[in-house]
Amino acid sequence: MTDKYRGKGMDRRYSGEAVDITYNLKRCIHAAECVQRLSEVFNTQRRPWITADAASADQIAATVEHCPSGALHYERKDGGSSERTPNTNRIVIWQNGPLQFSGDLRIEGAAVDVQDETRATLCRCGASHNKPFCDNSHKDIAFDGSLGAPLQAVPNEEGGTLRITVNPNGSLRIEGAFTLYDEQGNALFSGTETWLCRCGGSQDKPFCDGSHRANGFKAD
Ligand code: SF4
Ligand code: FES
Repeated sequence: MTDKYRGKGMDRRYSGEAVDITYNLKRCIHAAECVQRLSEVFNTQRRPWITADAASADQIAATVEHCPSGALHYERKDGGSSERTPNTNRIVIWQNGPLQFSGDLRIEGAAVDVQDETRATLCRCGASHNKPFCDNSHKDIAFDGSLGAPLQAVPNEEGGTLRITVNPNGSLRIEGAFTLYDEQGNALFSGTETWLCRCGGSQDKPFCDGSHRANGFKAD
C-alpha cells in the first residue's frame, strides 16, 4: 500500500478558513516545536488542541514545517504555496535518539509506504512500538546512541529523491544523495548509499554492522 504522506485515515484534520492542518498522533514525538512556536494554534491544554483559524496561514505553514517528525502537515485553501521539497537530503543523528530526516523522502518496506514526504523521525534504538518511526521509547530504555568511529564529511551538493528501505528485522537502506549531521549541525558524512542501524546494537553507529543478526532483532 502506498500513501502520499503517511497513512491517511490515521490523520486527524483540523479545518480553518485559509488552511487545514493534519495531525498524525503516532508520528508525533512530542518535540513541542509547534506549541512553543505558535501556542495560539497548538495548545495541548485545550480541546481540540489545534485551532486552525487562530493565526495566519503563513504563520501556520512556517510552524508546521518545523515539525521534525512529519506528524503535522498543512493544506492551503487560500492559494498560498504548499510546502517546498528541500533541495538536499539531511539526516540529523539525535544524541541517544532517532534519525531526523528532511528532504525528498520515500520510505518503503514499512506497513505503509510513504512518498512525497519532507520530514520524518525514524527509530534507531530498536525499541519503538511504531517502527520504523520513533515513538520516544529511546527515553524509556535509556538508549546509548554513541557513535562508532569518528566521521568526516565529504562535500555533497546533490539532491533528488532519498529512498529509505526498511529491511525486515534489519537496517535502513539509504539510496540517494544525503549528508549526515550531528545535533549541532556539523556535517559528519555524505554519500549516495549506506545502511543505517535501527536495532540499536551496532558498534559502528550510525551505520549497520550486522549486529541485528546476532542480537535477534525483531522489528514487529
Ligand atoms: S512539532 Fe510535530 S513532533 Fe513536535 S509536538 Fe508538534 S506535532 Fe509532535
Ligand atoms: S530512537 Fe526513538 S523510539 Fe527508537
